[in-house]
Amino acid sequence: MTSEFPADYAVWHGLSPMTDFFRDADPGQFLVSGSGNHVTDAAGRRYLDARSSMWNLTLGHSCDPVKEAMRRQLDTLPSGTVMRYEHPPVVAVEYAARLAALMPAPLRHVRFGNTGSQMTEAAAMLSRFHRRMTGQPDRRHVIAVHNGYHGTGPLATALTGEPILHEWSAPLDGYVRHVTAPTLPEVLALVEEIGVEQVTAVLVEPVLGSAIGAVSLPFLESLVTECRARDIHVIVDEVTTGAGRTGTMTVSERLPVAPDMVVLGKGLSAGYFPLAALVVATPIFDALADPPLRLGFPNGSTTDGHPLGMAAGLAVLDVLSADGFLAEVRETGRHLVELLTGLAGEPGAGSVDGEGMMLALGLVHDDGSPWSVREVNRFRLTCRDHGLLTSYAAGFLPLMPPLTLSRAECAELVDRLRAALRAHKVDN
Ligand SMILES: Cc1ncc(COP(=O)(O)O)c(C=O)c1O
Repeated sequence: MTSEFPADYAVWHGLSPMTDFFRDADPGQFLVSGSGNHVTDAAGRRYLDARSSMWNLTLGHSCDPVKEAMRRQLDTLPSGTVMRYEHPPVVAVEYAARLAALMPAPLRHVRFGNTGSQMTEAAAMLSRFHRRMTGQPDRRHVIAVHNGYHGTGPLATALTGEPILHEWSAPLDGYVRHVTAPTLPEVLALVEEIGVEQVTAVLVEPVLGSAIGAVSLPFLESLVTECRARDIHVIVDEVTTGAGRTGTMTVSERLPVAPDMVVLGKGLSAGYFPLAALVVATPIFDALADPPLRLGFPNGSTTDGHPLGMAAGLAVLDVLSADGFLAEVRETGRHLVELLTGLAGEPGAGSVDGEGMMLALGLVHDDGSPWSVREVNRFRLTCRDHGLLTSYAAGFLPLMPPLTLSRAECAELVDRLRAALRAHKVDN
């Protein structure tokens, strides 16, 4: 059987059917260059990137400190790993210490990986491994939140609460359970139903970003306290919220009691290298650093701790820690919320949620009902035609611009959005 795609059409991204992608994607749209917070396509059109590539290009395309650090690393030690043996790249040791020092105590030990999915899986597996090594082998269950997103891959998809991913990827991990509503009583009721001695961890995003808009989990603080009282690990998935996206290094640092593990990804390298990390609290490290059965945690990949990612990560920390940088992200976020709120009255514009550079604009019909995911995706294309790249989700338009968005670019974003709202013809 011969393929209907031209021989040079080799890229297979996999999320939308290739027939649709091929039909809808005009080769002129393929991106050829980026500068600051804008990208230019093959046809010469310029877009404001209000989705930061895939929510990860947090410092834009022109971050010289990151580029220079990577170039220097390329000339000194261009490859390496922390996976085995006693020769980690020195830059990995240095970066882990810098990163750990920015996390709330006792989160002091860092495992490196390449993707958020890899690290959310590692977190759940590490929690279970800890139980097995400390005489609690029945604690296998992990509780996650319906409509939360934690990535793809057998365990990351199981932890994800989006029903469609379960349907497509079944069968999945039998020890992951979801609460249907993200409330503390629901979590505690599920813990009781499973049996406290069988639950190893609860895994949550501090801001539900993927499926329901930029909505903060209101009970995170009490979740940590209640879980601690039951000896259940709390794993906070900060793949999206971490590395400054909401205006602080992490959301976890605002909690009075630190979680047991925090997952970081996306903005950690500002999108310049595939990089994610799992930061683990000292009591878990202490129990496993030299495990009773002399077994190491069997989890990791060849390129974990790759020097180029480590160098990029260190340079990103320099930028994020510079005086006033994160305060400016919070201030720009407030300014952008104000401008977006001013869209009220434009066709389809609903409420505005979120903080920092993690915002969402609700999209609603005249009767107040939310637009379908299909409609929001159609609207995303209208935005694209008005020079604005965004993500899409059911009922809202996620806005995840780079942290470096200027005031002029805030105005540009909202002007393009207003023009798109006025031009868009709602279909369903
Ligand atoms: C909260 C959260 N966790 C995990 C992931 C998965 O990360 P990755 O796409 O790097 O595997 C994502 C990706 O969007 C995410 O938003």
